[in-house]
Amino acid sequence: MPVSPASPLSPAPVSVLGLGAMGKALATAFLTGGLPTTVWNRTPGKAEPLLALGATAAGDVTAAVTASELVVVCLLDYDSVHETLDPVAAKLAGRTLVNLTNGTPEQAREMAAWADAHGIVYVDGGIMAIPPGIGTEQAFLLYSGSREAFDACTPALELLGAPRFVGTDPGLAALQDIALLSGMYGMFAGVFHALALVGTERIPAEEFAPVLQQWITGMATAIPHYAQQIESGDYTTGVVSNIAMQAAAFPNLLSTAESQGLSPELLAPLQQLLSRRVAEGHGHEDVTGIVELLRKK
Ligand SMILES: NC(=O)c1ccc[n+]([C@@H]2O[C@H](COP(=O)([O-])OP(=O)(O)OC[C@H]3O[C@@H](n4cnc5c(N)ncnc54)[C@H](OP(=O)(O)O)[C@@H]3O)[C@@H](O)[C@H]2O)c1
Repeated sequence: MPVSPASPLSPAPVSVLGLGAMGKALATAFLTGGLPTTVWNRTPGKAEPLLALGATAAGDVTAAVTASELVVVCLLDYDSVHETLDPVAAKLAGRTLVNLTNGTPEQAREMAAWADAHGIVYVDGGIMAIPPGIGTEQAFLLYSGSREAFDACTPALELLGAPRFVGTDPGLAALQDIALLSGMYGMFAGVFHALALVGTERIPAEEFAPVLQQWITGMATAIPHYAQQIESGDYTTGVVSNIAMQAAAFPNLLSTAESQGLSPELLAPLQQLLSRRVAEGHGHEDVTGIVELLRKK
């Protein structure tokens, strides 16, 4: 069935494929933003709460993708996206596919090539929010791929969170998404270790949490300075706490964990990098120099 073009008075419809925790939040934001929204999920029944908000439940994937010029997909992984969309590729031709499924830059580029081969306009995206944050000021989403399609979809995408277009290379949104998640997991690894460590002396995690939060928040202000050093490759300017000092103190973190009955496995790899950097003659430099050891290319 042909899709009738939206007039300024009738907002363009959108289809959402995948009604997991995130897909449901995305569909809810479109619906509360007034967009006619068609939804589909592999396992039936998940559309029920959205029907009350005005959603149309598609009986199958074909009905879902042909209901709108803008098709947003948010499934578990790229394999499930291919499994779902490959059979309906011809029906997607000429439409805009915004893929908000988490994946690697390579997967995003492969999906863009697949879309291109089928005449589908492709935008890849990374969601920097948890489901309750969708549609709030905290949420932002990264996009890459077709700039024209992104611009055309921006009024709809703004309903999800602040949209940031990061480049026409379709892999760039995934790259930045993964970079942000890497920073987050590195931080949480330390946070979980710290809370477990104080717990070995029965200090309640909730009691220690505000102190930890204050410390982490304060330390995060160093990020722009570290970024400048990493960008310039000069690890000797503005050094406040040199790496030799840090490499000397770091074993205390590991031995304290061991003696308190805690595995140091979340922290141990950092000790090796610090020691190697000092051994290679960079003890007077800043800790950021360890990125030189991470680079393989
Ligand atoms: N939740 C978050 O905090 C968050 C934040 C940022 C990004 N993301 C990303 O958003 C995506 C969805 O996350 P979520 O939280 O919605 O996950 P979820 O609650 O586990 O939902 C997964 C969705 O994928 C569908 N699915 C799985 N395998 C499928 C297949 N082979 N064919 C068709 N559909 C399939 C599921 O359908 P069924 O109902 O049939 O199983 C469900 O709709 C993921 O890529 C995730 O990394 C999530």
